[in-house]
Amino acid sequence: MNITVIGCGYLGTTHAAAMAELGHDVLGVEIDPDKRALLAAGKVPFFEPGLEALVARHVAAGRLRFTDSYEEAAACADFHLVCVGTPQLASSMGADVSHVDAAVGSLAPYLTRPSYVVGKSTVPVGTAARLAEHLTAHAPAGDDAELVWNPEFLREGFAVQDTMRPDRIVVGVGSERAEKAMREFYAPMTDSGIPIVVTDYATAELVKVAANAFLATKISFINAVGEVCDTAGADVVDLADAIGHDARIGRRFLNAGVGFGGGCLPKDIRAFVHRAGELGVEDAMSFLRQVDDINQRQRQRVTKIAQEMVGGSVVGKRICVWGAAFKPDSDDVRDSPALEIAGNLHLMGGWVSVYDPKATETAQARFPTLSYAGSAAEAAQDADLILHLTEWPEFRAIDLDELGAVVAHRRLLDGRNILDLAAWRSAGWEARGMGRR
Ligand code: UDX
Repeated sequence: MNITVIGCGYLGTTHAAAMAELGHDVLGVEIDPDKRALLAAGKVPFFEPGLEALVARHVAAGRLRFTDSYEEAAACADFHLVCVGTPQLASSMGADVSHVDAAVGSLAPYLTRPSYVVGKSTVPVGTAARLAEHLTAHAPAGDDAELVWNPEFLREGFAVQDTMRPDRIVVGVGSERAEKAMREFYAPMTDSGIPIVVTDYATAELVKVAANAFLATKISFINAVGEVCDTAGADVVDLADAIGHDARIGRRFLNAGVGFGGGCLPKDIRAFVHRAGELGVEDAMSFLRQVDDINQRQRQRVTKIAQEMVGGSVVGKRICVWGAAFKPDSDDVRDSPALEIAGNLHLMGGWVSVYDPKATETAQARFPTLSYAGSAAEAAQDADLILHLTEWPEFRAIDLDELGAVVAHRRLLDGRNILDLAAWRSAGWEARGMGRR
């Protein structure tokens, strides 16, 4: 099939490459000339495992091309995947859907033949119905240009794999014709056993935000319990293991620590509460405010424990921060707990040295006043305290005796509850976790 992908950021680039890998001819529409030039040269402007190789391969094969022309896009394809971002508005908790509106608005006047505009971005419920009306009114093809809502659930760090083999496909349609077309579109995936849920626009939109709200709630739940564990002398990791054995609960997303960040979970739960308010049902979703509060509190908790561990104040203390990305296998520092904590300790008078295997550049752009090291050991030089805030595998493989020789004090706070505290303690470290014995 001929497919266009509108917006070649994180979601779009991954989709464009994955669709090419599935054998489609893909045209990516990207209005940023620098990004477009990079992609056309087979390079990806961010770090995602396996993605650049895929892009390079399909660009070289001519199966993946890039343009800034909506006219060209409309002329060459029957399916247009809208993958632009919906960040939090500067003025409220709501989502900024202006890029989605602009993408559909720019494409519509060129849609002269039957085609499907497939929205993949995360949007407030009601957006798809509004865009469907816009499309019918402004596309020369009229009713033959149809809108479909097909939310995307990919995780950073696993983006390629999640796109090629998603847990499920969700499609919100406005007609039987669109349902048939989307079932055909996804047949290679559904034939291999991937479940598909076909529903209406509103349900499809809500599935995405509900999924992210549930994941965020799970993380905040275990972090809240972790706070109680801290005061009660209990261990939140043992507790999570134990409750996770209950299949109704499950162990995944029960890792207590610095909390969730990134470009999705925080802004999606806020946009959900905001939209519920617009619909007059804010009370139903108000618990998500607490989920957000609990999450933010974890960042303060780390700061507080760090202060305690260095004797009450971080002023003039050397703090080594391992990790800047919001999670491993990513260079994304949007709403990253690690970077925010590093920044706060710096503002509180600490001498903070940050090391992240991949996110130094993005972190530097966001927080240029922090000092960045080239290795885990360099960041730890003369440190009074090491904070482990993003769980990159290399931090678990560090030689504790060698590390002990470069720090000023053998103190560790594991903000991800993944390091072997017993091993650190037996190597002579004062080692703490969050909600751990
Ligand atoms: C999320 C959703 O998982 C994905 O389905 C959606 O499409 C986009 O948003 P992503 O933002 O890539 O994906 O990251 P995710 O793996 O969900 O992690 C989010 C945050 O939660 C990270 O900061 C991570 O460190 C944190 N987290 C995750 C925890 O603190 N504890 C956990 O148990 C799991």
